[in-house]
Amino acid sequence: MKEVAELAGVSITTVSHVINNTRPVSDELKSSVLAAMAELDYQPNLLARGLRMKTTKTLGVVLPDISNSFFADIGRAIEDTSFEHGFSVILCNTDNDLAKEIIYTKALSEKQVDGIIFVASGESAEQVRAIQAKNMPVVIVDRPIGEISADTVVSDNTTGAWAAVNHLIEIGHRHIACISGPLILEPAQQRVLGYRKAMQEAGIPVQDDWIIESDFRCEGGHEAAMNLLTRGEPPTAIFASNDLMAIGTIGAAKALDMMIPDDLSVVGFDDILLSSYFNPALTTIAQPKYEIGVIATNMLMERILNPRLPHRRQMLDNHLVVRASSAPL
Ligand code: RIB
Repeated sequence: MKEVAELAGVSITTVSHVINNTRPVSDELKSSVLAAMAELDYQPNLLARGLRMKTTKTLGVVLPDISNSFFADIGRAIEDTSFEHGFSVILCNTDNDLAKEIIYTKALSEKQVDGIIFVASGESAEQVRAIQAKNMPVVIVDRPIGEISADTVVSDNTTGAWAAVNHLIEIGHRHIACISGPLILEPAQQRVLGYRKAMQEAGIPVQDDWIIESDFRCEGGHEAAMNLLTRGEPPTAIFASNDLMAIGTIGAAKALDMMIPDDLSVVGFDDILLSSYFNPALTTIAQPKYEIGVIATNMLMERILNPRLPHRRQMLDNHLVVRASSAPL
């Protein structure tokens, strides 16, 4: 900045006002400052500026698995909305690994991001407490952490799962199995709850081995479905707690020469883009992924501007999308 000021024949303060737009500068002086900056190829030191202005105009986003387009869609919405606010995004993929989550959470604090949007990969209370201990604004998305109080955006998992299973019951199925996500996670627990509620309301007793805990991944769904479908009395329908496991389930059924939906109906959860183009197209519960990302980002912006806001929890509706992977018994 000193060299720019000398070359332009103005004070360093004037150069700072031109760069930060913090006070009007005459066109004549502004053009000689800009000319000097171009000649010297001057790049403002954003980190130094961040320290001075206590903002780096950057958000941190912690996601458990960006290869699952559910999270990619949320990340896209966060990036779009942050860009509109003049913020850039540092995206951290924890790969459902708590050790990575700890490393990334620390790195984001050290990079002085202005706030963090956080999707837990598991027992993540410690990480969120560490973020809050630094007075860092944080919004929890999709996976609330029991004892942690923070701004939260979720979708109604219990009702969504109930709707998925009720759809199968309405088309005549009774022997309906459930492949759940990791039960450490609240969405996974709530979807099993919704499954049990629908079965109970229909007077269908649920046998314990009708529910298999898996990992929200295709491979996990495939493995759980193989277990269910090679039993003496296989289910006529499977509710998988996310689309990737539903797709793995269909793969397992096809490997066993079963026809979908003739021999087995399958319903998923999320409605990722692939689901409508899969063969057969997947009946599923559509989560408002993009809206979740937009709301979480706007909530974080409000928190950055007003740290003393009371914590808010927003729950969005899901809806059933019936496609070719489910049919009457
Ligand atoms: O597909 C990944 C799942 O984990 C989604 O259903 C989402 O709710 C997250 O919790």
